[in-house]
Amino acid sequence: MINVILNGACGRLGTTFQKVAKETTDVNIVAGVDVNRTGISTGFPLYKNIKNVAVPADAVVDFSTPAALDYVLDFCVKNNTKLLVATTGHSEIQNEKIAAAAKKIAVFKTANLSHGVYVLSRLVALAASLLDGFDVNVTEIHHKKKLDAPSGTAKMLADVIKSSCVDENTPDVSINSIRGGTAVGKHEISFFGNYETLTLTHEACCKDVYAVGALRALRFLMTKKVGLFSSSDL
Ligand SMILES: NC(=O)c1ccc[n+]([C@@H]2O[C@H](COP(=O)([O-])OP(=O)(O)OC[C@H]3O[C@@H](n4cnc5c(N)ncnc54)[C@H](O)[C@@H]3O)[C@@H](O)[C@H]2O)c1
Repeated sequence: MINVILNGACGRLGTTFQKVAKETTDVNIVAGVDVNRTGISTGFPLYKNIKNVAVPADAVVDFSTPAALDYVLDFCVKNNTKLLVATTGHSEIQNEKIAAAAKKIAVFKTANLSHGVYVLSRLVALAASLLDGFDVNVTEIHHKKKLDAPSGTAKMLADVIKSSCVDENTPDVSINSIRGGTAVGKHEISFFGNYETLTLTHEACCKDVYAVGALRALRFLMTKKVGLFSSSDL
């Protein structure tokens, strides 16, 4: 059994993770953390700050905000707990802190837990390596309550394009962010050439895809003692 502390337990992804975890036989949420405790019945103790959690666990799953990072890292390093960083929008300095913690504990970090987006990133790398001199645009669409823009996934895809390009002049990758309604998450990458355009698209149909991806990442993390891992390691 993988015993998990869920940070951001009352948010959109936190509640989705709760639902999906209940349907498994190998993942058990032993405590939740949320600054805005909503009073919903979670079936596990709910704390306002992870530093107050006294329940032993194998891993922390973080679906909260970048502001929680210092507390989460302190807790995991102090208690030798594995960490799945699913939150997006961290600064460069915060990413360095995550990498430093990963020298002491096992950390999995990805901006997108969907397997389809991982495959998309591989296809995008192939296209970027073959389409010399094309102009590239990433358009991402998310629900209007999403805090960060561009999305972590759009930034990750832009990095993949720049690092895969064989052209001496790495193209500027423009990113458009659209926010509206309850859209779960869509990423469209267009390569514009002379007289032709190639477009690759991924659309998440429901938030469960991220929770299922979190379960897959957790099971992988259990096999690791130390290090920083991402979707390409699965
Ligand atoms: N990696 C992925 O595949 C993936 C997919 C979707 C969303 N996300 C990211 O997950 C995060 C959460 O998304 P969401 O849509 O559930 O957001 P949300 O706003 O619905 O939920 C965030 C929750 O975190 C809580 N919170 C805020 N500060 C906290 C703190 N210091 N400690 C503990 N809890 C705190 C909030 O009260 C809220 O309940 C975002 O960063 C989002 O971009 C990642």
